[in-house]
Amino acid sequence: MSAEKLRETLEFYRDLGFTSLYQRAPSEAPVRETVSADSEPVRIELPELAPAGDSLQRIRADIGDCKRCRLHEGRHTIVFGSGDGEARLVFVGEGPGADEDMQGLPFVGRAGQLLTQMIEGTAKREGIPLERKDVYICNVVKCRPPENRTPEPDEMEICGQFLFRQLSVIRPGAICALGATAARALLGRKEGVTRLRGNWYKWRDIPLMVTYHPSYLLRPYNQNAKREAWEDLKKVLHFVYD
Ligand code: URA
Repeated sequence: MSAEKLRETLEFYRDLGFTSLYQRAPSEAPVRETVSADSEPVRIELPELAPAGDSLQRIRADIGDCKRCRLHEGRHTIVFGSGDGEARLVFVGEGPGADEDMQGLPFVGRAGQLLTQMIEGTAKREGIPLERKDVYICNVVKCRPPENRTPEPDEMEICGQFLFRQLSVIRPGAICALGATAARALLGRKEGVTRLRGNWYKWRDIPLMVTYHPSYLLRPYNQNAKREAWEDLKKVLHFVYD
């Protein structure tokens, strides 16, 4: 295995939450022996790399009736994601709101209606035949945070592993991170959206654009940001669909 491939593999497992060193067991079986400083060696089955056998169905099944973090306490429904599982463009928001929590679908409330308008309106104006159903939409956390508060770092880390798997399976041509929480989860950057927006970054090797979250654009005093978000989206759509 090349050094580059090894680095990618280790990053993948780190993103999944594995922090121990591991060694190949002497047998042929896909079993690794984990060694951590304070325990006896433990044998664990590591999951296959996402490209080998992962699928959106399997990720949803692995989430199950998730109780891995405190967000499960107030949720009504887990909101996994919606749209084309082979989309060339994925939008990532922060977490479900009240409407999404009730319907089990991302971005179906007011912010979602604005997002749909932005995608379909911009595509139409730019002559790109694209509807909302042609992209994939999901969130950093899959359960609604109480009072729509910002997800805590541990909640983002736990649920982020499923987002990373979704992105690894879909492997879109570009990702659009909606707002600071998505930017932080995918880029590890803490700057505000005003600083990050409009430029290209990468999540793994996938081009990623940060723009404003539609909820922010719904506030009447943020009309300038609306124009900027439209510009960002135009760039993304041309990049992916030209
Ligand atoms: N806001 C989000 O970040 N995601 C949704 O699904 C809805 C609102």
